[in-house]
Amino acid sequence: MKIENLTIAYTNKNILKNINIEIKPGDFVFLIGNSGSWKTSLIKALIWDLKPKWWKIFDSLWRDIYDFSLKELTKYRRTIWVIFQDYKLLKSKNVKENVAFAMEVCWYNDKQISQKVPEVLSQVWLLNKKNNFIDTLSGWEAQRIAIARALIHNPEMIIWDEPTWNLDPHNAEEIMSILLELNKAWKTIIIATHDDKIVNRLKKRVITFKEWIIFSDIEWGSYNL
Ligand SMILES: Nc1ncnc2c1ncn2[C@@H]1O[C@H](COP(=O)(O)OP(=O)(O)OP(=O)(O)O)[C@@H](O)[C@H]1O
Ligand SMILES: [Mg+2]
Repeated sequence: MKIENLTIAYTNKNILKNINIEIKPGDFVFLIGNSGSWKTSLIKALIWDLKPKWWKIFDSLWRDIYDFSLKELTKYRRTIWVIFQDYKLLKSKNVKENVAFAMEVCWYNDKQISQKVPEVLSQVWLLNKKNNFIDTLSGWEAQRIAIARALIHNPEMIIWDEPTWNLDPHNAEEIMSILLELNKAWKTIIIATHDDKIVNRLKKRVITFKEWIIFSDIEWGSYNL
């Protein structure tokens, strides 16, 4: 994916200017920056949830995503999967049904659903809890359902807005292990975070947002605001 000269704004006052980022397949990238430094808004722009003022955003086939028809956009949105903080789980359904539901609304058939659900649940170490209801799960088990739902469509890229914000340090490490494993299997991972410990330990690429620009983009970076 390549972002060229992206500018986003909600009002005339505060504007994220001239962003240029190239993400290669298999990259593992942290987005860091103080609160209000445009991390979430940039992620929204990448999936057309927020329309930039000026932009060039190219997908892996070098097509500008803002030229997409609705059908192409739906397809594109399955290749990059975004997990926002408020991922919604259905309390009246169990683990397995929550994942199946995410497939039903995307028109997968019963056979595909019965094949895929156990596969993605085992990828996030949740197969043994498949019949548990949501309110009997810990926060981080619930969070893994969000990853399972992302994996349904076999996306090229998973973008996660603050995956560890409500987790204790141990579970934060565990969720990172899952993401690292997926990254080894060639999924591109982008994580917006305030978690300095994780960023400093993993030493991955770090893109820092500061003063309404990309302040730095460092290959083996650390949490340095
Ligand atoms: N829907 C909206 N309408 C108007 N302004 C908004 C909207 N959402 C965000 N903003 C503003 O855009 C700027 C960037 O916000 P954004 O949420 O992208 O920051 P962030 O880096 O994700 O912050 P945090 O680390 O707290 O999640 C902020 O000035 C914010 O107040
Ligand atoms: Mg945010």
